[in-house]
Amino acid sequence: MANKKIAILTGGGDAPGLNAVIYAIVRACRPKYDLIGYRFGYRGLYNNDFVPLTRDTTRGILHRGGTMLFSSNKDNLFDYTIEENGVKVKKDVSDVAIANMEKEGVGTLVVLGGDGTLTSARDFARKGFNVIGVPKTIDNDLASTEATFGFDTAVNIVTENLGRLHTTAESHHRIMIAEVMGRSSGWIALYSGIAGSADVILIPEIPYTLEKVVEKIKSRQSTGKNFTVIVVTEGAAEKGGQAVVGRIVEDSPDAIRFGGIAAKLANDIEKHVDNEVRHCTFGHIQRGGETSPADRLLSARYGVKAADMIEKGQFGNMVCLRNGKMDFESLEVVLGSSATGSTAMGLSKRVSLDHELVQVARSLGISLGD
Ligand code: F6P
Repeated sequence: MANKKIAILTGGGDAPGLNAVIYAIVRACRPKYDLIGYRFGYRGLYNNDFVPLTRDTTRGILHRGGTMLFSSNKDNLFDYTIEENGVKVKKDVSDVAIANMEKEGVGTLVVLGGDGTLTSARDFARKGFNVIGVPKTIDNDLASTEATFGFDTAVNIVTENLGRLHTTAESHHRIMIAEVMGRSSGWIALYSGIAGSADVILIPEIPYTLEKVVEKIKSRQSTGKNFTVIVVTEGAAEKGGQAVVGRIVEDSPDAIRFGGIAAKLANDIEKHVDNEVRHCTFGHIQRGGETSPADRLLSARYGVKAADMIEKGQFGNMVCLRNGKMDFESLEVVLGSSATGSTAMGLSKRVSLDHELVQVARSLGISLGD
């Protein structure tokens, strides 16, 4: 009997490296297996919207950011919004997805995603389907892996742009605040803040006080440095306060989109200093463009490992990086054992207060706002 097909889908916010993983899986699995890619994440799986994945259709994508399969950060098929008799209702349509795959002769589903997307992958595995997860997010906040692809690219982009803020901050003697992504994890701000010589790094794991931030600005002024560059994670909050919510995205596994902390901080700081305080949000620029060499390598390794796991029948697992080597971990462990169909986010990896880079930042004289 011919080998069953392999299907790939990409879900959640895009991250540089998705294309490189697809590229690697296709090359490692061909010609033994035929492959297809569902478009727009789980929505494509439900609508049976797919494209063939061959050497030809995936040529030249290794270095490109984004995803050739497109993505969606909604569409939980275990709790999916459909219209019945003109009324919108939520339903578990996972059986439709499985029937679609069986009809196409798909025997394995490889899911490239963050915690929301991988929660559904775990739920398909619970239904007995052969699933392999590959961890993706620029936030680097997924438990059970030392690194997610997309993170290095984002750190490069933020670091470069902090350098740009420096020269203009210095020229105008301004306080410049950059808001970066990361949700409730401060990895992007911490890495790029140190690499980009920020004076203040504010992360969700360490609530800041306005007093300490202003103290740092004034202490720089007392040594003749009348400008300051601050990098703040979107989900950071003042001690005793709340993170600033930018928008709610209905039907998304993680409905909250943070946004606005830099503007709030600028407004607060301006009351205590004579300098002009300006802020900017790096936003989706952090996810766009070309994939960094380190992320291309990491993604290629993830893709080849996923192909190896398919060959060995190691289903229900997520590829991970452990002690610098490719390994795998059960999706049940990665995501915790929440109920099937839940939109509860998986076990997240946050910056611990004794992380070496927290100590490094402090030793370099960078204020963490505490
Ligand atoms: O999880 C990746 C991420 O880029 C977060 O850092 C950010 O908060 C969120 O996605 C933004 O999502 P969207 O693209 O829906 O605005």
